[in-house]
Amino acid sequence: MRKLKYTIASIILIGLQTTVFGQKVNIKRAFKHAAAQTKVMLQEIPKAANAAAPELVSPRTLENGALKLVASKDWTSGFFPGVLWYLDEYYHQEEWKAAAQKFTAYIEQEKNNGGTHDMGFKVYCSVGNGYRLTHDPHYKAVIIESAKTLATRFNPKTGVILSWDHSRNKWVNPVIIDNMMNLELLFEATRLTGDSTYYQIAVSHANTTMKNHFREDFSSYHVVDYDPQTGAVLKKTTHQGYSNSSAWARGQAWALYGYTMCYRYTKNPVYLKQAEQVAGFIFNHPNMPKDLVPYWDFNAPQIPNEPRDASAAAVIASGLYELGQYSDQHADYLKKANQILKSLSTTYIAPAGSAKGFILLQSTGSKPSDSEVDVPLSYADYYYLEALLRSKAMK
Ligand code: GLY
Repeated sequence: MRKLKYTIASIILIGLQTTVFGQKVNIKRAFKHAAAQTKVMLQEIPKAANAAAPELVSPRTLENGALKLVASKDWTSGFFPGVLWYLDEYYHQEEWKAAAQKFTAYIEQEKNNGGTHDMGFKVYCSVGNGYRLTHDPHYKAVIIESAKTLATRFNPKTGVILSWDHSRNKWVNPVIIDNMMNLELLFEATRLTGDSTYYQIAVSHANTTMKNHFREDFSSYHVVDYDPQTGAVLKKTTHQGYSNSSAWARGQAWALYGYTMCYRYTKNPVYLKQAEQVAGFIFNHPNMPKDLVPYWDFNAPQIPNEPRDASAAAVIASGLYELGQYSDQHADYLKKANQILKSLSTTYIAPAGSAKGFILLQSTGSKPSDSEVDVPLSYADYYYLEALLRSKAMK
C-alpha cells in the first residue's frame, strides 16, 4: 500500500514538473549516443590524419562528407577535447580521461599564441575542463599562462580585447560579440592567482561591449570596430550574419551565455539583466521556430527556407540552464532549455554510426561565405553535452 502511494505521488510530481519545466530529455540515452558516436570519432581521426600535416589534431566538421581536422591554432580546436572531458565527467571512466588528456595536450601550446582572442575557446574548453575535473597543477599553470597572453590583446583606450588581426582592410580594431566567451578564462585566472588584473580586463570588456554592441531590442551586432587611439566606435557591422543590422543567431547565443557567465563571477545585477534581455529578444522573436532551434540568422531573408543552426541552440540551452539558476524567470528558462535539448536529441541527432562520429547535425558556421552550412560542428556537440550535464545537475 505504501509503495502504491509512493508510486502515485511520484507520478503526480513528475507530471507537475513536466507541466512547469517541460519534458526533460532522457540524459542517459543522450550520453549513450554521444559516447558511441565519440568512439566512432576516435577511430575516424587517425584515418583523416595526414603525416604531411601532423599539426592537424582536432575534428571540426565534415567537408563533402570527409572529416576535417584542424590545428591547435584554429578557434575550434578545444571543443573535441572538451567533449571528451564531458564524457569523462559523466562516466568517470579511465578511457575517457586518457583520451581527454591526450587531445588536450595537443592544444596546450596555444597558451603562448597572442595572435587571436580565441584563447578561451581553445584553452578553457580543453585545459579548463581538465583542470576542473582533475586539479592537475600543470593545467592550472597553462590556464594562467593563457590568460596572461590573452591580456596582451587588451587596450585600455578602447576598454576591450582586440578580436582579430586579420582583414585589416575591413576593420581597424574589430571586436566580435563571440569575444564575451573568452572572459571566463580571465575570471578563472584571477580566481586561481588572486591577481585582479584579469578580472578587471574582463569587466571592462563586458561593460564596453554592453554599451556598444547592443541595439535597443537587445539584439547584438556581430563586429564593432574601434579607434585604438581614442576608443571611439568607428562602425558596427557583421561578418557571419545576414546583414549589418541583422541578428546572427550564434552571436545572440554568445551574448546570452557570456553575460550569464559574467554574472556568475561578479554578481553584478546589470549582467543578469542583460542576459535576461537577450533571452527576451531570442524567444520573443517571431522567426524563432517552434522547436526553438534558430535559423542561422533571425533576419535571414528566406525563412522558413533557411538552414538552422543547432550550435546556436546548444549554446542557448546551456546558457539558459545557468541563467535559470540566477533569474526569477527560472521556470520559463528551464522549460525552454528542456525543449531545446528535446529537439536536439531527437530531430538534430546524428543517426548511430553516421557523420564520422559527430553527435549533432544541422549547424551553420558561416552562411555568407557559404562555409559549413547545414553540417555537424564540434562546438555544437560541446555545448550540447555541457547543456545535458547542466540539465542533469538540476534538481
Ligand atoms: N567564434 C566564431 C563563431 O562563432 O563562428
